Amino acid sequence: MQSITDQGHIFLAFEAVYSQQMIQDKEALVLRIKQLKKEKDVVILSHYYMPAELQFELTDGGFVDFVGDSLGLSVQASKTEATNILFCGVKFMAETALLVNEGKQVYMPDPSAGCSLASSISAEDIRGLKKQYPGVPVMGYINTYAETKTELDICCTSRNAVAVAASLEGDKIIFVPDVYMGENLQKVIKKELGKDLILWNGSCEVHEQFRNFLPQMAADEGAELLFHWEVPEDITGIMETGRKGIVGSTGDILKYVQQSDAKRFYLASECDLSVALMKENADKEFVTPCVKCPYMKQNTLEKLLDALEAIGTPNESAYRVALDKNVIDAAKKPVLRMLECSN
Ligand code: 13P
Ligand code: SF4
Repeated sequence: MQSITDQGHIFLAFEAVYSQQMIQDKEALVLRIKQLKKEKDVVILSHYYMPAELQFELTDGGFVDFVGDSLGLSVQASKTEATNILFCGVKFMAETALLVNEGKQVYMPDPSAGCSLASSISAEDIRGLKKQYPGVPVMGYINTYAETKTELDICCTSRNAVAVAASLEGDKIIFVPDVYMGENLQKVIKKELGKDLILWNGSCEVHEQFRNFLPQMAADEGAELLFHWEVPEDITGIMETGRKGIVGSTGDILKYVQQSDAKRFYLASECDLSVALMKENADKEFVTPCVKCPYMKQNTLEKLLDALEAIGTPNESAYRVALDKNVIDAAKKPVLRMLECSN
């Protein structure tokens, strides 16, 4: 990685795909992980925001079965035939894997990995919204805990939010909890579906930091801009000045870059998404202030190995994601309803 200093801000321009050296340095760990996952019948799922070493896929000689965005991972979790799922991501994602996979065991390298959006709303809050807006359907971002999901009508991820909104009756939708994603979505949903969103005041503490970098993106006129939906709307509004790029989900960003003829991109999303971007687009250059999600980074190769060692032993409860049966029964309904919409 190369550092560039611009008006006091450090930018990182990525020159290489994730380093083979990094993996070679940890070869012994990687070999043990491969052996244990086979012995214990474990599928390893990893989000694109994982540190590079946890995006080391089977197809590259690594140990991760599938790297994906939150929708891709939910779908993969629902399809797996393995007895155990080891989920490298944050807790609401691993809970979702459990909801669509009753009877299987779900583990995480660090089950305390949270999310500022998921923590911003409770089931009680949703009950309050339903009283305030009777009859209005509640569409909840997948970035909510299972307990909160018990009160949702339907879930959505960043990739299918517009399609899910289209599936709902009426001209109003309560969308929780991300106010910024809601404001970005509102523009598209109003234009395409003529519907209005009622919003909650949650936010992603990672994506809202892009507020600090507007002057740098504005000045980098040669770069196309890549925004996650969770970046505040007053920043994504720069697209209305004629800049090229996309406001969308992680999956949309990856697809956009592959289809674009541009050679330089400014990434306004989690820094480690650049691993997949670089891997799939070796001829293109990515610039980002490299904002990292502290929760996603709680996952490490060493903790993943500890979790694998623990599966099937008395220590496994330290890594296992557990939910009450009544929470599973109620929370899986909005998730399954969403998956039906995404097929
Ligand atoms: P995706 O749905 O794009 O994977 O996003 C998940 C997330 O947590 C973004 O911050
Ligand atoms: Fe949650 Fe934001 Fe981290 Fe995604 S990036 S897991 S929304 S805190």
